[in-house]
Amino acid sequence: MAIREIVPYTDKFIRKQSKPVTVFDDKLAELLDDMWETLLSVNGAGLSAVQVGVLKRAFIININNMKMEFINPVIIKKSGEQYKQEGCLSVPNTYNYVKRPQTVTIVAYDRYGNKFTFTCEDWTAVCVSHEYDHLDGILFTDKICVPPKGKAE
Ligand code: NI
Repeated sequence: MAIREIVPYTDKFIRKQSKPVTVFDDKLAELLDDMWETLLSVNGAGLSAVQVGVLKRAFIININNMKMEFINPVIIKKSGEQYKQEGCLSVPNTYNYVKRPQTVTIVAYDRYGNKFTFTCEDWTAVCVSHEYDHLDGILFTDKICVPPKGKAE
């Protein structure tokens, strides 16, 4: 395993569209292992492959000691809304409010190619939505908003 360099928002690469994973092999496992080492080294909540310079539709999340991997994810259902302050390893020292769904249902594959469905809410839904956006070159800074009165968390 190895800690990989994080692509910063100032690098145009971060805006690229990631491509679906077609082979679930040792190379994918190595990428994911490296992403874990990179994410845990900074105690981050989530990391997408594009952030370590690989245009594959894959991200990992690490919330409340729950660690999950999502390959070729598709969000199939969103409901409600929430406003929390987000940050991003590619955008250091910046935290701002973003509007996200309160609940998200996502279909994805694990590193072995097994399909699963996952429904989450609150911070986990924020994190999944944030990482999902990275796969399409979208940063949270594109979505900064002023929360409606009484909605800021
Ligand atoms: Ni991010």
